[in-house]
Amino acid sequence: PVLVVDFGAQYAQLIARRVREAQVYSEVVPHTASVPDLLDRDPAAIVLSGGPASVYEEGAPRVDPALFDAGVPVFGICYGFQAMAVALGGTTEHTGTREYGRTELAVQGGGGRLHEDLPGHHPVWMSHGDCVTKAPEGFVVTASSAGAPVAAFEDTDRRFAGVQYHPEVAHTPHGQEVLRRFLHDVAGIRPQWTTASIVDEQVARIRERIGGGRAICGLSGGVDSAVAAALVQRAISDRLTCVFVDHGLLRAGERAQVERDFVAATGVNLVTVDAEERFLSALAGVSDPEQKRKIIGREFIEVFEETARNLQAEAGEHGQHYDFLVQGTLYPDVVESGGGTGAANIKSHHNVGGLPEDLRFRLVEPLRELFKDEVRRVGLELGLPETIVHRQPFPGPGLGIRIIGDVTRQRLDVLRAADAIAREELTAAGLDRDIWQCPVVLLAEVRSVGVQGDFRTYGHPVVLRPVSSEDAMTADWTRLPYDVLERISTRITNEVPEVNRVVLDVTSKPPGTIEWE
Ligand code: XMP
Repeated sequence: PVLVVDFGAQYAQLIARRVREAQVYSEVVPHTASVPDLLDRDPAAIVLSGGPASVYEEGAPRVDPALFDAGVPVFGICYGFQAMAVALGGTTEHTGTREYGRTELAVQGGGGRLHEDLPGHHPVWMSHGDCVTKAPEGFVVTASSAGAPVAAFEDTDRRFAGVQYHPEVAHTPHGQEVLRRFLHDVAGIRPQWTTASIVDEQVARIRERIGGGRAICGLSGGVDSAVAAALVQRAISDRLTCVFVDHGLLRAGERAQVERDFVAATGVNLVTVDAEERFLSALAGVSDPEQKRKIIGREFIEVFEETARNLQAEAGEHGQHYDFLVQGTLYPDVVESGGGTGAANIKSHHNVGGLPEDLRFRLVEPLRELFKDEVRRVGLELGLPETIVHRQPFPGPGLGIRIIGDVTRQRLDVLRAADAIAREELTAAGLDRDIWQCPVVLLAEVRSVGVQGDFRTYGHPVVLRPVSSEDAMTADWTRLPYDVLERISTRITNEVPEVNRVVLDVTSKPPGTIEWE
């Protein structure tokens, strides 16, 4: 792999994704990894990421000069560029001039291998207070900017290069090309990481891991579990059984989408468990959001566990057992759980997990190495429909956390109807890909006066919460066209008698979360 050494900024994962866009497999490693650790992984190249530190700070992470004696190609970005310069005997200075944001890059002396043929002046994204003032011995300087006399350097004989700017962000239009040239032309790595190769490799690995055994996969209706299941299905066909728990908190049409579309695309064995009664009675009278999440999470695991037990018992009678549990864990989860810092538990997210020991499943996680966009491409490659592959995120606890107040069947029906209208209109307006998601929230304990025809009404408001986001960590409220909002509002108030008011949530995240509970 190409190893992206994470110096603690949010950029390392983005860099790893960009490397993969150049069809080269990459992984993120912490900057605390020693040079022998790095070399043990037999890296095709090493990318040193940007980071928040100044090379002048006490305790700032350093690059061990031994890294440069191993014959491995190295590319430094921003902080990694400066740390590389220092390690190789160049000079960096704390000049006090900061460059932040869009900056003009001036290509120098033909631009070398990485910048040749690019426009002589082009925009790049910068974020630095220190700068390299003298490149190390053996390097040629290929670009500069107002605040960085050395903004790019390279030593193609030793296969080293670096840039002060951030090639990985969208604000640097030629960034991907520069990264690609480093990987393909300077480091000499062949581009082999394609969707087809991912599928082949994962299928081979799943076969190797599961052998002649059987596996169970819980489907949530979301992209990740669907793609994980489809991959395992491709590998072991009818020795996979999928379980879909209908907890009664689903949106209109979701169950059908799994039962019909997913099965049609994959031919998988599917067991749907009708658990609405059970969830609704467990939730009766509960309005505290964390309580709701805990109850839904607990019931979910219990239902899944019971189903798995039953399947195991049935299969056992025929001398066959389910040994494996498939999970749709993605690479960012793997990086983040190994990352150590442990973000605050803002809301207790639930997934299938925490299964009891005595079920003794071994895990199969075929998406552990993949980013979300790769998962979607793999889904399409496996023939899953767009409706599944480009499905917007929907929380595990479902509509249960979109009813403010306690959850009843009647309230769920009201919310489901309003939600279906909003989704229909957003889809009809062609906005599905522009928004991250648009929760519709029922304020079940708030009543508002209205008038319809000549009658006074005393109904409930629903909130539209359209958000735009890259990764759900931060989000902005989406400026939906007024005519779309109008259609949604008119239809909901006309077609859902219990709702007499539609309001728009215009809060970004932070401070608001995307979901209301
Ligand atoms: P928040 O509300 O934390 O949501 O800003 C961020 C993203 O996560 C989804 N979400 C959940 N997903 N289980 C899930 O699987 C949960 O308990 C859960 N809570 C929130 C939410 O829809 C948004 O996309």
